[in-house]
Amino acid sequence: ARIAVGVDLGGTKIATGAVDDNGTLLARTELPTLAREGPGRVIQRMKESVYGVLQKLGLSLTDIAGIGIGVPGPMDARRGVVKNPPNLPGWDDVPLLSIMQEEFNIRICLENDANAAALGEYLFGAGKGIENFVYITISTGIGGGVIAGGRLLKGDGGNAAEIGHITINFEGPVCGCGNKGCFEAYASGTAMARFAKEGILSGRKTILGNFYQKEEVKAEHIFAAAKEGDEYAMELVEKEGFYLGVGLASVVNAYNPRCIAVGGGLTKAWDMFYPRMIEVMRKRALPVNVERLEVVKATLGPDVGIIGAASLIFQKE
Ligand code: BGC
Ligand code: NA
Ligand code: ZN
Repeated sequence: ARIAVGVDLGGTKIATGAVDDNGTLLARTELPTLAREGPGRVIQRMKESVYGVLQKLGLSLTDIAGIGIGVPGPMDARRGVVKNPPNLPGWDDVPLLSIMQEEFNIRICLENDANAAALGEYLFGAGKGIENFVYITISTGIGGGVIAGGRLLKGDGGNAAEIGHITINFEGPVCGCGNKGCFEAYASGTAMARFAKEGILSGRKTILGNFYQKEEVKAEHIFAAAKEGDEYAMELVEKEGFYLGVGLASVVNAYNPRCIAVGGGLTKAWDMFYPRMIEVMRKRALPVNVERLEVVKATLGPDVGIIGAASLIFQKE
């Protein structure tokens, strides 16, 4: 089997692994991304992580077919440049592709993280064999990737399927991208936490106030509180399902997929938002676009970013 290395660059960690062309993760390693450090040190650790994974398997660079790298957007795929993603402060026009090519001198693919994950789920996960397929990730941000007619939709500069930045409300809260009322500003884990904080500060009665005293409120605290019957938390979870449904309806109308797979940290609470999300999506999308549509939880799990990045090397040119 051919082997590729996948590097998943996130706001808090670099996850790197070796993956074979059946999608099996053979070895992995994880190093921190300390945002305040800026790109230099982080890129150094990305390089180290690649060598680390090869060492675990006793392989050298000549044994692998290439290195795939997934990065949060926005990017310039034509030049291989990371263009100041809100989730990677200080990465202002970083020519990551050429830096990595210089170091490793083998085939390197640079792609949006969610686009890479979509390709991974299409080749090896929930989207296997489904030629019109959408992957969505909901965690700190909201990302998306689209497989259209069996091919990854990249757009002119690698920024197709930036579904987190679809406008949900033209007067809505400010998003990390600078726009107002983006899907991500309503339905990401960060947005849930922001709504909770606003509620607490405006005097809503909720056990979430206790979390707020000690640390930041997080989406996972809200789901836990809702499970315990906290009314305000239940309201926030209901709203989350509603916002997700509104966003999905637009995604469905734009791409008409046969299947949508949802991944990311929030899917730990899948059962709590899934029914409301589906109900709202079905009510708002064009009926023809939901007739055959299936919405499922992604299957590659927390390593989807690594497997997806590696799969860039296996995709047909
Ligand atoms: C970025 C996307 C990315 C997503 C998940 C969003 O804020 O715009 O490019 O895929 O976060 O990391
Ligand atoms: Na994307
Ligand atoms: Zn935005």
